[in-house]
Amino acid sequence: MLFSVRLLAPALTASLLSDLTVADDAQSRAETALDALQQWYNSTSGIWDTAGWWNGANCMTVIADLAALDSDSSVMETAEYVFNNTFNVAPAASNPNPGPEIKTNPSSKRDFLASRANNAVNSSVWLDSAYDDDAWWALAWIAAYDVTEESSYLELAEGIFESLTEAWGTRCGGGGLPWNPTSSYVNAITNELFLSTAAHLANRVPSQKDYYVNWAQKEWNWFLSQGFIGSNNTINDGLLDDCQNNGATVWSYNQGVVLGGLVELNKAAPNDTYLESANTIAKAAIATLADSNGVLHDFCEPNCEPDGTQFKGIFMRNLQMLQQVSPSDTYTRVISNSANSIWENDKNSENEFGVVWSGPVENTVDASTHSSAMDALVAAMAI
Ligand SMILES: *[C@@H]1O[C@H](CO)[C@@H](O)[C@H](O)[C@H]1NC(C)=O
Ligand SMILES: *[C@@H]1O[C@H](CO)[C@@H](O)[C@H](O)[C@H]1NC(C)=O
Ligand SMILES: *[C@@H]1O[C@H](CO)[C@@H](O)[C@H](O)[C@H]1NC(C)=O
Ligand SMILES: *[C@@H]1O[C@H](CO)[C@@H](O)[C@H](O)[C@H]1NC(C)=O
Ligand SMILES: *[C@@H]1O[C@H](CO)[C@@H](O)[C@H](O)[C@H]1NC(C)=O
Repeated sequence: MLFSVRLLAPALTASLLSDLTVADDAQSRAETALDALQQWYNSTSGIWDTAGWWNGANCMTVIADLAALDSDSSVMETAEYVFNNTFNVAPAASNPNPGPEIKTNPSSKRDFLASRANNAVNSSVWLDSAYDDDAWWALAWIAAYDVTEESSYLELAEGIFESLTEAWGTRCGGGGLPWNPTSSYVNAITNELFLSTAAHLANRVPSQKDYYVNWAQKEWNWFLSQGFIGSNNTINDGLLDDCQNNGATVWSYNQGVVLGGLVELNKAAPNDTYLESANTIAKAAIATLADSNGVLHDFCEPNCEPDGTQFKGIFMRNLQMLQQVSPSDTYTRVISNSANSIWENDKNSENEFGVVWSGPVENTVDASTHSSAMDALVAAMAI
């Protein structure tokens, strides 16, 4: 790399070198973050000590996202070790609420099994009766598939998605998913995850592309027709019993998952409105959640509950996906300023990150706060 840089004119060399230094820094920071994250990985439970089941899916996703960008062989070895071990041990050791297999509509089940004659993966052991948790794992296994091309991982994600289709609701305009089988609460995250999983699968399972595109479009059209998106284009937490916007907290992850879903849907079935909507939501989110230095926050800081500690990294991961197809200085500023601030102001002596990205590290530091911040460092590698 340095050799070719030396051949360039001096003026170019200076700016190229500083770009390379920035890129190298971003990679070494993310690798340092991976080492710290793995201090919490428990090979018996298949998830990360100090963080819960759904957080585990997000810890695994950030490792996959790093492995996709980092050619260092030790990163890929760690990733492959984690995927395989988690795949084998996590359901039995860690699923907090293993439920009965979701009852599947016989005709869709038959089509699914026919399309997957060799399906050796029992996806039902990953279900925990919270549809959002199930979908986090589906996305995590898609991310693992993307870096390994291991077909069992993709089949697992397909099986989880198939179960989720059975939860497609009858309330609120005759659609959408409630957040669990016994609740009537229809929340944004569950539906954004369903959209994103369907759209990701549409780009990875050619034989079932139309099937997955149809589900993604059905979800997105339903989502748009409900009141999730508020008057300033941010997304509130969910719907009231009368299906109106409930005005509940604008969490960063609810502004994030939809972005990756629309990027994937636009790739599978291009329609200009998808990226327009994604850009509108991303910019509204940044106006609401980033501070004047371009560092992202959530309203719960500094005392976020264990769920809230995960959210901001999810936004960063998905904003980076949007940045790849629809670049904006607004996005690069928030990604790089958040990552720099985490590194400079929100890191303890063990290289672990806290929940407040502008710092200081005062509250609980755990695998959830750390993996969430690591998402920002990985996003910074990609821009
Ligand atoms: C690792 O996971 C196992 C199984 O869940 C658990 O019994 C053990 O306490 C965990 N180890 C630590 C250090 O938390
Ligand atoms: C995959 O994980 C299982 C369970 O931890 C282990 O027994 C097996 O040896 C691993 N396979 C590979 C190829 O590492
Ligand atoms: C899948 O696992 C569930 C839960 O352990 C079990 O009830 C079901 O019989 C399994 N299905 C198959 C096809 O093995
Ligand atoms: C593009 O997407 C929008 C929003 O989902 C939809 O209303 C419109 O019908 C789509 N256009 C085409 C040509 O499919
Ligand atoms: C947008 O509306 C939400 C309430 O739904 C509010 O929390 C947020 O501050 C508003 N954003 C801006 C930029 O005013």
